Parts: sequence; structure tokens; C-alpha cells
Amino acid sequence: MMKRIFSGMRPTGKLHLGHLAGALTNWVRLQNEYECFFCIVDWHGLMSEYADSKMIKENCIEVLLDWLSVGIDPRRSVVFMQSHVPEHAELHLALSMITPLGWLERNPTYKEQILNMQNKDLGTYAFLGYPVLMAADILLYKAEVVPVGEDQSAHLEITREIARRFNGFFGEVFPEPQMLLTPTPRVPGTDGRKMSKSYGNAINISDPFDLIWEKLRTMVTDPARYRRTDPGDPDKCPVWDLHKVFTQDLDKRKELDRGCRTAGIGCIDCKKVLFENIKSALYPIQDKRRYYEAHREEFLDILYDGAKRAKSVAENVMEEVKASVGLVL
Ligand code: TRP
Repeated sequence: MMKRIFSGMRPTGKLHLGHLAGALTNWVRLQNEYECFFCIVDWHGLMSEYADSKMIKENCIEVLLDWLSVGIDPRRSVVFMQSHVPEHAELHLALSMITPLGWLERNPTYKEQILNMQNKDLGTYAFLGYPVLMAADILLYKAEVVPVGEDQSAHLEITREIARRFNGFFGEVFPEPQMLLTPTPRVPGTDGRKMSKSYGNAINISDPFDLIWEKLRTMVTDPARYRRTDPGDPDKCPVWDLHKVFTQDLDKRKELDRGCRTAGIGCIDCKKVLFENIKSALYPIQDKRRYYEAHREEFLDILYDGAKRAKSVAENVMEEVKASVGLVL
């Protein structure tokens, strides 16, 4: 029997190279070893986007297209939308009954997001409960393993605490899910900061190649290398971080490293090599995306089928939850 994995992603729209090098490559690999549930968490999306919610639907479609095109395989994995399985909301309600406010108020991500998102009012009841809905997502499938990035570790700890507390009151219903920390290489955006949609520095998986070249061409490099004749330092260059992800040929990398340090090559030469390697990585992905874009019926069926498979598990667990609490007549 394979262990079960659950992971979710908020519908932020087109995914970028940071998602590819972090979560997605990892998820694709995990499909060989685990029974995977991959969920587009649209209710979580609404928590931060409620004031302007009309983009959520299109963003979900973009996320799904990216998942399928990178190799998330809906025949092996259960791929679905959170709102298609109403038990997520039902379990969220049940778990909210036993979750102490203090756990949520102390959640570091909560404080941080409220401070960082000055343009949005996140002082809502549901936003405080973000980790409770996340716990419901995971526990609804009794997932044993949750692959996430470091930024989600506080949330996952709350999930584990909620599971323990529930079991303490009502009996051993939920396994405590283990966090599987996704190894995430540093993927800087065009301005050198961490690649992120909100910074406007992202290279998207689905960007046309001429746009990718435009972004790479103007991407910042080692700031001390003013002129073509100045030697550079790859360790201070964000383009070099992308080479570490996309230039697999180590001899080639050595050659570029030497060329940069001796001013033997210029930044544009170096970026051209990177561009070729990004293109070869993205070519099959974008090819697959075009296929799904042309077959919308097919990918909607994938979601409906995923919801059906998710629901068959979720219904049983929810029945067990109600029975253990004592709500079944
Ligand atoms: N909170 C996660 C994020 O922001 C998304 C998420 C929601 C999730 N539910 C989940 C991740 C369950 C893992 C498991 O990225």
C-alpha cells in the first residue's frame, strides 16, 4: 500500500519557474511513490481575494493547465478543486469547534501577512482560520505526508496539533500528518529578488519564448560587473542561480563560471546559454499545455472526475468524524 499525500496550491494564476523548480518537479516525482491528492484550494484563494473575486475561476484554470503540462498525471493522482468537495467546508466547521483562538493568533504567518498586505483587509474571521481550513484539507483524506515548502511549516504544525486535540476529545480518528520539506533551490526573478508574481519579476512556465528572452536579456546580473571587460562573480549573480537549476551539464557550467570570472564571456553570452536550456526544459511542457488549451472539455472532465474520487474518500471520513463526535442519529 502506498502512503497518501495531500498538497494544495492557491489559485494565483499562471505559475512560474520558482513553482516549477520547487513544488511541481517534486510533486511529479512523488506520484511514483505515493497515492497523491493535489487540490486547487479556491476557498483559500477567496480568503485573500474576496474584494475582487472574479479572477479566481480563470486562475484555477491556469493552475490546472500548468499542473497537467508539467506532468501531474490525473490518471494516477487525484486532481481536484477544494470547492467541488463540500466536505472541506464541513470539516473546517467541525475543527473550528476545538481549535483554540490562541493557536491562530500566535501563528507567525498570520501576523506577517496582515502586516505585509497593506492593500488588503485581511482582518476577517476566515483569514484568522486559514490554518483550520488547511488542516481540514489534509485531515479529510487522512493524509500521512504533506509536501510543502518551509513557509508552510507553522501551518502544518497547527494541523498536527488540531489532529491530536481532536483525537484527544473524540478518539483516534486522524493520523498526524508528516511534513515532507520540499527542497527548493533559490530561484530569483528578473530583479534578483525571490521570484514572485507579486513582485512582477516572474518568468512564467507558459511565457512565449521571445518574452522569456526579453526578461532574461534585461535581468540583473552581478552588480559589480559594469562593463563587458570587467570580470564577474557568479556567486553574486542571480542569473547564475537559474543556471544551477536549468543548466544540468556541469562541464558547461564550469566553462561559464571561468568565462565570467575572467571576462572571457559577457553576460549576454551567458544568458543565451541559459535561454537555450530553459527552452529545452519548457518546450515539452508548453507543447502539452497547447494540447490541453485546445481540449477544454477534457480538462474539465479531469476536475469532475477528480472531485468524484476525492469525494468518495471525504464522505467516509466525514461520516466517521460525525459518528465519533456523536452527531449521527
Ligand atoms: N497554504 C498553502 C499555501 O499557501 C496552500 C494549502 C492549502 C495547502 N491547503 C493545503 C498546502 C494543504 C498543503 C496542504 O501555499
